Amino acid sequence: MSESKDESKYAGDESDSDDGGDDDSFDPLHVESDDPLVQQLQRELKKSRKKVKEMESKTQTILKSVRDFQTQQKSLFTKYQDLRHDYKELHENMLKMLWEEMFDDGSGDRDGGPKKGVDGNLGRLKYDFLALKKQDRDLKEDEERVGEYDVGAVIGEGQFATVKSCYSTTKEKVMAVKIIEKKKVTSLDSLKRIDNELDVLEELAGKHPGILTLMDVLHGEKYLYMFTEKLDLDLFDFYDDHPNGVTETLGRLIILGIMEGVNFIHSRNIAHRDLKPENILLRRQKGPGGTEEYEVVLCDFGLCARVEEGMLMTDFCGSPGFFAPEMFVEGEYDGKQADVWSIGCILLELLVGHDTFGECWMTAYDSEYMKRKSDFRSEIQAAVMELKELRLPTNLSDFLQDLLSDVDGKKRPPVNSLLAHEWIMESEHGRDPHIKRRLSSLDSPVLQNRPQSTSEDAFADR
Ligand SMILES: Nc1ncnc2c1ncn2[C@@H]1O[C@H](COP(=O)(O)OP(=O)(O)OP(=O)(O)O)[C@@H](O)[C@H]1O
Ligand SMILES: [Mg+2]
Repeated sequence: MSESKDESKYAGDESDSDDGGDDDSFDPLHVESDDPLVQQLQRELKKSRKKVKEMESKTQTILKSVRDFQTQQKSLFTKYQDLRHDYKELHENMLKMLWEEMFDDGSGDRDGGPKKGVDGNLGRLKYDFLALKKQDRDLKEDEERVGEYDVGAVIGEGQFATVKSCYSTTKEKVMAVKIIEKKKVTSLDSLKRIDNELDVLEELAGKHPGILTLMDVLHGEKYLYMFTEKLDLDLFDFYDDHPNGVTETLGRLIILGIMEGVNFIHSRNIAHRDLKPENILLRRQKGPGGTEEYEVVLCDFGLCARVEEGMLMTDFCGSPGFFAPEMFVEGEYDGKQADVWSIGCILLELLVGHDTFGECWMTAYDSEYMKRKSDFRSEIQAAVMELKELRLPTNLSDFLQDLLSDVDGKKRPPVNSLLAHEWIMESEHGRDPHIKRRLSSLDSPVLQNRPQSTSEDAFADR
């Protein structure tokens, strides 16, 4: 009797309340009572039970999602590992192709003619390696020693390269070595850039004191090493000691050194195309009476190009603050004229100091202005106009205008005519008598492998 009462009570509770109580289970905690408080508590209890059940069900769903997610994550991780493995394999194959197979045809030694690179897509010959030699498998490469060289501290860093000081134990000479990490060079273009630099440095080694002398090249399993003469600092570091710019005399000496080097490469139909303070090296020395003097040497010929009279180039290169505006605005340019512009930028930074240069010149190269060619051109034009405010001595101002006033690069004077400018001629150094002295001190095996011109020939080139 009480049981059916229980059931009807339950049923009644279910039907006449919206408490959502459980309808299918016997409730051991159920207490028969007429006390409304007890009844109320019973209802609350049922509600809570239902909530617990719902939560349990949700928890199950969540747990299932978590398990699914974990399974997915695991499968993604496996895919990621597979991809990484494939990438590594492809990368290694590509490096092998770039750095080994292109040189492994046996006919590619420098003496046996140019090497051929292969266009992977079409299988046709695309590029002749001019200077890169194939890997020397016997070369012992160590952090501190490579071949006959003891390798020392880092003196410079580039995109693919680290430059370190080194010592040749056979020549008993302190030198610099540009160490290129082969695994960072993953495209034919980058490889061409290195080959280009080697080719030009080999050709020019020892022919002009204003051009970095290449002395040896080694090609190991992991790195390519370019051994050169060692300089004391680059022009960028030099600004630290001259925050407000240099004297006119010192500025002239440095610009003259740069122009001598540039004039030499231009006379050989080579444009540098990346003239900027980091690529101008200096050797400190004392002049007569203890005056501050510097020898200037151009380095980093990776972007240089062989040019012919009237030939226009289209590939954009250089660095903000120093590249000629027509490279960007016109899209085609004369490589030698572009170098003249860069010399102007370097002179300006020398005169006003690094910070002021940043404010009065670099701002025109802001990426905001480079969104539109016309904006960039007018910013450069405005910056050039403001140069007049510098109130420089007349000859110097005139010289700077010659370098920088033509923003279109159509009528910039060539370097050889600028060397005869009145401002240059004011120089007590004239046409740089110390240049000859240095030529005799150069000692380069690369130079010995090349058909050599004498020092006098080198000067005849200018
Ligand atoms: N012979 C040297 N003597 C002293 N310092 C040097 C010499 N060669 C290079 N450096 C220093 O190393 C820096 C980097 O050298 P370099 O400009 O040749 O490399 P990079 O071409 O800029 O490198 P990457 O090709 O990887 O971009 C130079 O800016 C300079 O500070
Ligand atoms: Mg450089």
